[in-house]
Amino acid sequence: MPSILVTRPLPSAVVAKLQNAGTVDVYTNGAMPADVLKQRVVAADALVSMFTDDIDKSVIDAATHLKVVANVAVGYNNIDVKYARSRGVIVTNTPDVLTESVADFTWAMILAITRRLAEGDRLIRRNGWKAWAFDFMLGTQLTDKQLGLIGFGRIARAVAARAPVFGLRVAYADPKEVDGPFTKMSIDRLLTTSDVVSLHVPLTADTRHLIDRKALARMKRSAYLVNTSRGPVVDEAALAWALQERLIAGAALDVYENEPAVHPELLPLENVLLVPHLGSATTETRTAMANLAADNVIAVLGGRAPLTPVPA
Ligand code: GLV
Repeated sequence: MPSILVTRPLPSAVVAKLQNAGTVDVYTNGAMPADVLKQRVVAADALVSMFTDDIDKSVIDAATHLKVVANVAVGYNNIDVKYARSRGVIVTNTPDVLTESVADFTWAMILAITRRLAEGDRLIRRNGWKAWAFDFMLGTQLTDKQLGLIGFGRIARAVAARAPVFGLRVAYADPKEVDGPFTKMSIDRLLTTSDVVSLHVPLTADTRHLIDRKALARMKRSAYLVNTSRGPVVDEAALAWALQERLIAGAALDVYENEPAVHPELLPLENVLLVPHLGSATTETRTAMANLAADNVIAVLGGRAPLTPVPA
């Protein structure tokens, strides 16, 4: 029987499905510490990992009969894919099944920050709402504004598909050309002309701190930044500075440079929405992600091609 290591509890139906393919070892005590992972992966033919697990060279070297790492996430910056491949280990992710969920969530972030929802909620909870007033807590209208999407893959295109409902024009910055009612722009032009900038790039050496002091200074003072991609795409210290200096109107973050830590200078700011990495967090989507990861494991252990290998 092959041995399958799962780093977090998954829905019981998914675990049962994996049990038909091998002996399943599920870590049930929160995030799996790196030393425990290195110990338990020794016996594994398959590893079901989360984006919080660092699957580096040392983990891959410890796992001498590992055939597949199935990440339960669309992002896979937590895995040394090149090294895994050099050792004959297949890496899979969970694209498509989370696209609509993350696109919905991106709009929830855009609406919440431009209409000051969390700020209003905080005000009421500290008993700070004294009276309605005509000019009280005014937000920003989205109609006829420009949404700038940096990265134009599946999720960004699903975000763009929802834009006409709110009356926004869509601009995107991406190496590839995409047909549709969108305007392709350089990142610089997108930053200087957009009213909402939303990030949809994977985390790579090229995108780390893509949004730094210089990029933030280019944005309109009335613009908002939304990040549902990966925390390190934004230099959090630079963002805190830009928000404090009112160089931009606000930011909405679902992801952080050192999760679960958040840059301390962001915490007291009213013009930033802070959400704990919930982009794909619906019951339906998380179940679909777990099933897809399990199906990838089952395919590889059965000698078949994986359903969703990460791109070469
Ligand atoms: C979550 O962050 C994912 O990459 O799916």
